Amino acid sequence: MIPSGGNAVMASRREPPDSLDFFPTPPWATRAFLRHVLPALGGACPPIRSAWDPCCGEGHMAEVLRESIVQVRASDIFDYGRGYEVGDFLDAVAPAVRCCDLICANPPFKPAAQFARRAFQLAPVVAFLLRAQWLEGEDRYETILRDRPPTLYAPFVERVCMLRGRWEPKGSTATAYAWFVWVEGAAPLPPFFIPPGRKHALTRPDDARRFGARTDAPLLDPMDPA
Ligand SMILES: C[S@@+](CC[C@H](N)C(=O)[O-])C[C@H]1O[C@@H](n2cnc3c(N)ncnc32)[C@H](O)[C@@H]1O
Repeated sequence: MIPSGGNAVMASRREPPDSLDFFPTPPWATRAFLRHVLPALGGACPPIRSAWDPCCGEGHMAEVLRESIVQVRASDIFDYGRGYEVGDFLDAVAPAVRCCDLICANPPFKPAAQFARRAFQLAPVVAFLLRAQWLEGEDRYETILRDRPPTLYAPFVERVCMLRGRWEPKGSTATAYAWFVWVEGAAPLPPFFIPPGRKHALTRPDDARRFGARTDAPLLDPMDPA
C-alpha cells in the first residue's frame, strides 16, 4: 500500500535500474480503464472480482484498481520498498495456474509481448496499457496479434504522460498510449476511443499527494493563492 503521508515514504524511495522501465501510470489513466474501457466491452467481459498487477512498481496502477476491485494482488520484480510482493512475472518455472479474473498492467516495453503470452495463461481477461505503436511490428504480428488480436483496442484521445521514475501531474509527452484488452474466447470489437476530458474528470484532489513525485515545494499550481 502507498501510505497516505507522502514525504517520509518518498524519502525512503528505492531507485530501480533503468532496464526495468519504471514509468508510473497516471492514476486517471487506470480510472479511464475502469470507468470507460471495461464497460465498453459489454457482455464480452466476464465479471471482474479479482485482479493482479504483476509489475506494480510503486503501486500507481494497483492502488487505483483497489478503488473499484475488491481483491487486487500487486507484485514487481524490484522491491520499491512499498511492501508489495516481489517476484519475476516471467519466471519460467512458476506454474501456469489460473489465478484471477483480470491481469491489468503497464508492462515494461521490451518484454511486453512475453508479458502478454504469460498473462494469457493466467487470466481470462488481460488489459495492458501500451504505446499505441505496439500495434506495429512484424514479430508482434507473427507471435501475438495475427492469432490473438485484442478484443478491444482503446486509444486515448488525450495524451497520457509517463515519465521515467515519477508521475508528474502536469507533465507532457509526444507518445500516444492505448489500452489493449484481450478477453478469452471473445471476438474483436470495433476500437473504442477514450473520450477527451478524462484527465480532468478522473484526477482526484488527493492524487498528487498519494502518487506524485517528491518535490521540495508542495504540488500546487503557482497561481493558486497559498
Ligand atoms: C512501466 S512500469 C509500470 C509500473 C506500475 N505498474 C505503474 O503502472 O505505475 C514497469 C514495471 O515493470 C517492472 N518489471 C520489469 N520487468 C519485470 C518482470 N520480469 N517481472 C515483474 N515486474 C517487472 C518494473 O520494475 C516496473 O516497475
